[in-house]
Amino acid sequence: MPAVTMDQLVSLCKRRGFIFPGSDIYGGLQGTYDFGPLGVELKNNLKAAWWRANVYERDDMEGLDAAILMNRLTWKYSGHEETFTDPLVDCRSCRARWRADHIKDTCPSCGSKDLTEPRPFNMMFKTQVGPVADDTSYAYLRPETAQGIFVNFANVLATTARKLPFGIAQIGKAFRNEINPRNFIFRVREFEQMEIEFFVMPGSEDAWHQRWLDDRLAWWRSVGLSGDNLQVYTVPKADLAHYSKATYDLMYRFPIGFEELEGIASRSDYDLGSHSKEQDSLGLSAKVSRNEDSTAKLTYFDPESKRHLVPFVIEPSAGVDRGVLALLTEAYDEQQIKPVTPERAQAVAEALAAFVKSVGRSEKLPAEQRDAMLDRAELIGRDLATSMAQIPALLDMPGAASIELGKKLRGQADPALDESYRTVLHLKPTLAPIKVAVFPLKRNAPEIVATARQIRKTLQAEGNMRTVYDDTGAIGKLYRRQDEIGTPYCITVDFDTIGQGKDASLAGTVTVRDRDTMAQERVPIAELQAYLRGIV
Ligand code: GAP
Repeated sequence: MPAVTMDQLVSLCKRRGFIFPGSDIYGGLQGTYDFGPLGVELKNNLKAAWWRANVYERDDMEGLDAAILMNRLTWKYSGHEETFTDPLVDCRSCRARWRADHIKDTCPSCGSKDLTEPRPFNMMFKTQVGPVADDTSYAYLRPETAQGIFVNFANVLATTARKLPFGIAQIGKAFRNEINPRNFIFRVREFEQMEIEFFVMPGSEDAWHQRWLDDRLAWWRSVGLSGDNLQVYTVPKADLAHYSKATYDLMYRFPIGFEELEGIASRSDYDLGSHSKEQDSLGLSAKVSRNEDSTAKLTYFDPESKRHLVPFVIEPSAGVDRGVLALLTEAYDEQQIKPVTPERAQAVAEALAAFVKSVGRSEKLPAEQRDAMLDRAELIGRDLATSMAQIPALLDMPGAASIELGKKLRGQADPALDESYRTVLHLKPTLAPIKVAVFPLKRNAPEIVATARQIRKTLQAEGNMRTVYDDTGAIGKLYRRQDEIGTPYCITVDFDTIGQGKDASLAGTVTVRDRDTMAQERVPIAELQAYLRGIV
């Protein structure tokens, strides 16, 4: 069963070290998350795949890594100081603040309809630069990586002698003071973007816009998202950002429904024109603010027409964090692999019923947390055999830790889950945080342990694939653990491997187990690298 709720993903991510709430030990900082040991690998693999496809495998792209802090004039002329706002409303009853377009006309906290009129709230974070605080010594944390590319257009052009069309690609942090960060890493205050500004001859922008839409859809499919879960939304003219002539939003079916994963905007000559000096001489098509501060003319000399022109821009802009969330959503799967014995099923059902009763009676829980837990428990209870694997996510929900009977439920559910269920992340092997896990069949058999450790070391060093060694449980349990984090292959070293088993012909071979099919085959140690390298 694929992931049905965000809680399942949140629970897995926290339990297995993909993603933790930011500043957790101090009560967190809303809208921030930390990527743990597995999360950082997954995120790096996604970024590397994007960079490979968009920079290395194309002939028309350069890379860039611009500073996060930029001269504040950048944000004046980009239009962000004036227009990068969301509509903010206050609830007069409970004082909560909301984004007006995210709520109907009722406060989600207290249900009151007594809301203020929406007013614009600028989402850029301001920070002090240097030791003297005055009206001119501030800067913004960039709300998009794009502007770093535009202000470097002339530098890149001068140092690479590129001809149109060409693009500049950049991956980096962006910051937005979102009014209501929510839905795990979907809407956060600190995130990463993978952005391309692709410069084209004026007049060719519509064809390039379509080409980029097709390319980007194909790329997301290539990293594992299914076509059924992707949709294209053409942003209506009235909703376009201030710089956009036309925008396609590439939408993914997250657990919260179809939402934006990437925007592909046709930005005309707005950006280069806005940051240019002597704008009157440029024949701009976009309406820009007069710029008396820029020291550069951001134009391109067209050798054919022998004239200077301002290129048009197509911008595919994807969120890394939303990309990671989409990959996790797509990959998540819960499978029952063995029937649960009737006695165990009965014990879990009883423990669940007792937990539900206790949640219903609890006076410590805020109503919102109690209702969310009761709803989830009810869904699980309705079809316990198929939904049993959701119990850990239920017990990780906000407030669940305060329910004493949660421990009993966990105690009953864990053995049933270990025996009969598995959670699998069907990540593409290239994106999986760990490619191979190596286990010794017996951890107190020195020759088996030494062989397993040597295989791990060799694959990591020479095969250049992230590999781990684990001997902390029975093999079945170790397989489950690796399935849950998406490791495509597990290798087991046994007595046959070291020539002390029943079958002498298996000496020097190991068992390789496939995550998705659970099929196992014997592979000679000497061939492991070649066997795995082709796949991962
Ligand atoms: N330079 C254009 C630009 O920034 P955008 O649609 O505002 O366009 C591009 O952002 C992408 O960045 C979005 O499609 C989304 O994936 C990601 N993104 C934007 N705001 C985000 C947030 N608060 N949290 C996580 N990702 C976000």
